[in-house]
Amino acid sequence: TPLHGFLEKLPKCEHHIHLEGALSPSLLFQLASRNQITLPQDDDAFSSHESLLARYAQFSSLDDFLHYYFIGMSVLVLEEDFEALAWDYFQHASADGVHHAEVFFDPQAHTARGISYTTVLTGFSAARSRAERELGISTELICCFLRHLPAPECLATFELEDVQASYASGFIKGIGLDSNELGFPPHLFEEMYQKAGKLGLRRTAHAGEEGPASFIASALETLGVERIDHGIRLVEDVELMRKVVASGTMLTTCPMSNVVLRCVESVKEVPIRKFLDAGVKFSINSDDPAYFGGYILDNYCAVHEAHDLTIEDWERICKHSIEGSWCNEARKNELS
Ligand code: HPA
Ligand code: ZN
Repeated sequence: TPLHGFLEKLPKCEHHIHLEGALSPSLLFQLASRNQITLPQDDDAFSSHESLLARYAQFSSLDDFLHYYFIGMSVLVLEEDFEALAWDYFQHASADGVHHAEVFFDPQAHTARGISYTTVLTGFSAARSRAERELGISTELICCFLRHLPAPECLATFELEDVQASYASGFIKGIGLDSNELGFPPHLFEEMYQKAGKLGLRRTAHAGEEGPASFIASALETLGVERIDHGIRLVEDVELMRKVVASGTMLTTCPMSNVVLRCVESVKEVPIRKFLDAGVKFSINSDDPAYFGGYILDNYCAVHEAHDLTIEDWERICKHSIEGSWCNEARKNELS
């Protein structure tokens, strides 16, 4: 890519990365063996690294990806597994020029398997401390809820004692909503988001990835979110797009994810230019880097190749990425 060196050096903030989506096939097989987890034997995809990567290259939808995503994370058992996973991501991120990362995780996907929330959080926290110490990057954790599960179950997890304790102690910056979007509209989670707001947690939700623009409107209105994860289908509602511009809500776009999960045919179809022209703030992110063929710099390069941005465009994107971050003002000043 022309400007590759420039894109590499740009000080980046990442806001849309699922730590479980940073599980590489090599760590997956290593932990499966160590933790004696049996991977599906009736699926040839799990027979080797190569076949697994080949299968990842053929995802047909978000649902198809999620099947592999949930099987993959079943190898995570011990605190040190969660630490290794997050540390692997932080090293990649730092090498790609990330200075600040706000990372998602899915507690319900682990507690449902009998892994305690404390195990997950302690492992991730150890990796965060190491990343700040050894790589100099700042990080925040965003606790995501699985929208394909009944809302009362999500609320019950939200209210677990150790989960509440992690909010009170400041280990968790905010909450998010992920997993299958179609059939699971934002308003189902209104009560949980209202409670999160009262606790001073920041709020975001996946919306307008596979779901319609009306889900973006509903996330803003019923959940009170300050950011929208993905949000590419915002372009289908010009009036709503004006509102998003007026409120300064940032979208966390994930261009390579959108192509791999077939939300769009190519990165050219991710409405980067429309967002820039309309004044919609957005950041560019990797989503599930180990599954979608690239980390954040690969996404920056793909956007540059497809949309031929100027240096000024990139500087604006980086400025908005800092402004839309959930770190304190002092850290934002350092990032600028
Ligand atoms: N969408 C919804 N849920 C997810 C995703 C995504 O792109 N990645 C991991 N969980
Ligand atoms: Zn996502």
